[in-house]
Amino acid sequence: MKKTWKVAVVGCGMFANAQYFLNISKEANAVCVAAVDIVEERAIEACEKYNIPNHYKTVYELIESCDFDIAIDAASIQAHHEINMAVLSAGKHLISQKPAAPTVEAITEQIELAEKMNVKFVCVPIHPMRYDLNIAKQMIADGAIGVPYYAKCNMSHGGPEYFQYREADPSWFFEPGAGALVDMGVHGLQIVTSVMGPAKKIACMAKVTTPTREVRSGNYDGKKIKTDMLPDQYVITLDFGEGRMAMVDTGFSQKASRAPQLEIFGESGTISFTKPYMTNPKPEVYIDSPERGIRGWIEPMDWINIPKKLISQCCCLGDIINSVENDTKPVLSPEHARHVLEIMCKIPEAIETGRTIDLKTTF
Ligand SMILES: NC(=O)c1ccc[n+]([C@@H]2O[C@H](COP(=O)([O-])OP(=O)(O)OC[C@H]3O[C@@H](n4cnc5c(N)ncnc54)[C@H](O)[C@@H]3O)[C@@H](O)[C@H]2O)c1
Repeated sequence: MKKTWKVAVVGCGMFANAQYFLNISKEANAVCVAAVDIVEERAIEACEKYNIPNHYKTVYELIESCDFDIAIDAASIQAHHEINMAVLSAGKHLISQKPAAPTVEAITEQIELAEKMNVKFVCVPIHPMRYDLNIAKQMIADGAIGVPYYAKCNMSHGGPEYFQYREADPSWFFEPGAGALVDMGVHGLQIVTSVMGPAKKIACMAKVTTPTREVRSGNYDGKKIKTDMLPDQYVITLDFGEGRMAMVDTGFSQKASRAPQLEIFGESGTISFTKPYMTNPKPEVYIDSPERGIRGWIEPMDWINIPKKLISQCCCLGDIINSVENDTKPVLSPEHARHVLEIMCKIPEAIETGRTIDLKTTF
């Protein structure tokens, strides 16, 4: 008989409520057995709302008292490393929200612990599982636009206190250890490296555009926050070698934009991503092929190796279960997350020195 996977969610905030609790049993043969939050009322509320049998205040209580197979760490960014190390030490499979750790050394510690404990470790965001991105990768591999020499990614919103409805106090997003780079930049960096592969060098400029902000929804509506500790607008450039590069424009300082999220430019065409990726759109493709008399935008059709469509951001659960059941590497690999983390960790040095910085990790 097929196993029913027991899942615990650590951190019952905006994202867990929007994406995880509701979708655990839709995405896999799985059931949520526990909700954990240091603000206990949030865990209790989740249990009542989603019919979850157990609630705990800390990951340690969870490990001590609950029978579970997989933990999803959806807590605040600054808490991830401690939670992840506790889950892995207990020999449980782990899905970590981004970024999984504050440093390359810390995520390496997590990767090595997962290997030692013989458990699977998945790191989100989920972009490498996207339908549109996988169609584009297949088209590029098949030569549709020639060599993809430049990718341009826009990955911003107006800030967590503005853009998303949330009950929890969003102040932590602007404090050291969090910030626009690790919360938003991580998406752009994961996307461009998914398409272009590991980067070799980075450079960056960044500014604080908005030194104070006001919360615009939820329990903390109207609260003023000091937001000048970290930049909120970044322009990151990446060098992949062999004449290929990318630019990631990211932060909490763009209340609205009509720019495509991603464009990939090659010697004989462009692939453009203009539609919300969770709707599983196809990318728009421009082909310049004088030998076939084509010069213009075309509609790609589903053809071979059709990628899986996404249901929710909880698709990472399907990835980790597939990886456990077949003993394969997950699509959302921690090595890719480590490469993205190295880029983010080296960005302050790039900003401060105004120089291009070499990267060491790969995936
Ligand atoms: N698209 C995306 O991938 C996306 C979008 C939004 C947020 N996120 C990520 O999800 C995570 C949570 O963000 P959010 O927007 O839900 O924030 P939030 O502030 O709404 O929720 C975080 C919750 O974690 C709890 N928490 C903090 N430390 C804890 C600990 N040690 N143990 C247990 N619980 C703890 C807090 O009390 C809070 O309820 C972050 O890593 C964030 O970067 C991802």
